[in-house]
Amino acid sequence: MIEQQIKTAIRDIHDFPKPGIIFKDITPILKDPALCTQINDAFLEKIKHLQIDAVAGVESRGFLFGLSLATKLGVPFIPVRKAGKLPHTVNQKVYELEYGTATIEIHTDAFSPGDRILIHDDLLATGGTVTATSELIQDMGGIVAGFSFVVGLSFLNGIEKISPISNNIIILAD
Ligand code: PRP
Ligand code: MG
Repeated sequence: MIEQQIKTAIRDIHDFPKPGIIFKDITPILKDPALCTQINDAFLEKIKHLQIDAVAGVESRGFLFGLSLATKLGVPFIPVRKAGKLPHTVNQKVYELEYGTATIEIHTDAFSPGDRILIHDDLLATGGTVTATSELIQDMGGIVAGFSFVVGLSFLNGIEKISPISNNIIILAD
């Protein structure tokens, strides 16, 4: 039921940000506080057994539900940011895009080695962003306890890329 509500709310924007791309616009979800509450509750139900020590949310749309999830769980939120945005000392990971590379960063003191971290993003496409996030967290001594996404684009096979990292993959609308 929540899956259908999410799918109904999400708006397809053709040719954004480039010709040929169909952009999944989640902003209609954010206009519906009852649906946001249901999304938070659905995530909480599915992750409660994972013993999460912190939630890492990927800039920028992963911040939206990532922080509310962490707050509801009563654990820290870790912002995973694009290069040059975090003010304190950082660890970084460079990863491949279709054309070129991108860099993500996490504060060096964001969590402690051995912490069990849930990686959250709004959308799973190729899985490149969360794979890089996983590698950075593991490089820093963290344990990837699972992944959570509001939406998955199953035709891009992101699950195949991330399932070797953790089998705990929660996708509310696939
Ligand atoms: C989108 C989306 C995910 C990522 C998924 O973010 O929010 O973070 O792409 O793609 P992938 O699975 O192929 O890595 P985007 O880079 O558009 O940035 P934004 O969240 O700041 O809008
Ligand atoms: Mg994003």
